[in-house]
Amino acid sequence: MDYETPQFYRVMQYAARADRDVVDMVSGSPDWDPPAALRDGLRAYADADPEAFQYPPSAGIRPLRKAIARRRDVPVESVIVTNGAGEANHLAMACGLAQYSGEEILLVDPVYPYYAGRANFLDAETTYVTAGPTGELNPEAVRAAASEDTAVVVVNSPNNPTGAVYDAATMRELVDVAESVDALLVSDEVYDHFDYSGRFSSALAVDSPNRVVTDAYSKTMAITGFRVGYTIIEDEALREAARTRHMLGTVTGSRPAQYAVAHALAATTPEYYAASRRRVRERIDRFTDGLDDIGAAYTDPDGGFYVMAQLPDVGGDFEAVYELIDEAGVAGMPGAASGRASARGSGSRCVPTGSGRRSTDCGRTWGEFDRKLRVQEGAGRTTEYGVRQSHDARSVSGTGRRQCRRRVADTDGIHDDADDGRTVGTDIRRDSARSRRQTRRVPRALGLITNGRSR
Ligand SMILES: Cc1ncc(COP(=O)(O)O)c(C=O)c1O
Repeated sequence: MDYETPQFYRVMQYAARADRDVVDMVSGSPDWDPPAALRDGLRAYADADPEAFQYPPSAGIRPLRKAIARRRDVPVESVIVTNGAGEANHLAMACGLAQYSGEEILLVDPVYPYYAGRANFLDAETTYVTAGPTGELNPEAVRAAASEDTAVVVVNSPNNPTGAVYDAATMRELVDVAESVDALLVSDEVYDHFDYSGRFSSALAVDSPNRVVTDAYSKTMAITGFRVGYTIIEDEALREAARTRHMLGTVTGSRPAQYAVAHALAATTPEYYAASRRRVRERIDRFTDGLDDIGAAYTDPDGGFYVMAQLPDVGGDFEAVYELIDEAGVAGMPGAASGRASARGSGSRCVPTGSGRRSTDCGRTWGEFDRKLRVQEGAGRTTEYGVRQSHDARSVSGTGRRQCRRRVADTDGIHDDADDGRTVGTDIRRDSARSRRQTRRVPRALGLITNGRSR
């Protein structure tokens, strides 16, 4: 596996060059509407005073931090608004490495490739704990792999790419493992609104200074382009380090985007989130029905956007994915990009978040994808996935810390009516009871296929 160089766009670049329309199931960008209130918030912002167009507090506008704190039941001080879950993960991993002894980051295989790439970027050693056949994570395997060399353990539930959802007992055990080796558990919960099992349990349910949570509105509100995420860090020293790093790395986030999210959080009913969850679940069902028709093995996800599938006679590498683009007009991601467990043998992983809408570039509908899936055949070989290696200073400067504090004391977001006390985005598990077909074992995985938009 090579996580040194960014290869995520390889598939998209190949698809863009293809001389046919291609269904994009790679990018993971939702193609459904954000909450209506989000658009209202943006419109209102356009007419705001010039001062609303200036730097927001580095840790995020107060109404948004308060809304997050209320939803997550944590002190508002513990919330740092970030540029998506990506930055939140980076802060958590980097600060965990800097604050805890040990040079190692423990990851789960199959892995969300950016964790691996980021670990390389941070010059950390990596150790992989292999998940079970359906993505389940045995905390005892994590315990066995963890040692005094471990500084950070990164987990993700609902999981990209396996679709596994870790229950309360698992999360408790994982926090316990982190405590036992004095490491930091980073729990990436970016798909928390996409739990189809009703078993999702946040790491926040376990009280411990050794755990942080990362999250974002990218998927929850279908706004991957807004770059609004957050981390919750209750340990003060770690939080200060993260704030400083955030300040020095990005200064702050986008104020209009934060405002619009805060506005949407206050005005959006739980039905929006439930409808998004149903939409993805229906697409997954449609996709897996197609997989059944062609005799593919796959994981039936308990959460998230992704399905790992092994198409008959199709490899799990980049060459296979290229061939799928050429022959079937479907772009997925190779399982090889997700780690050793996924790369074993041939296979690909598939992510059906798409819709039947037409893209601006060329038109393909989700229905057409079904057809493609049936006619697809062929494929070949692989490469890897990751980000370019570089170095990241781990030290935290006192000056930066002071600057950070000063910024936080600045004015908060405009229109405090966004902070009107209404609770939204509440219990996403309420209507998620589901009992579907049994998850099938996937010995090898193949392409990551995200949404149905075409490029
Ligand atoms: C597991 C996981 N974490 C983090 C991210 C990045 O989220 P964001 O776009 O909010 O940075 C993604 C995006 O697909 C993801 O799948």
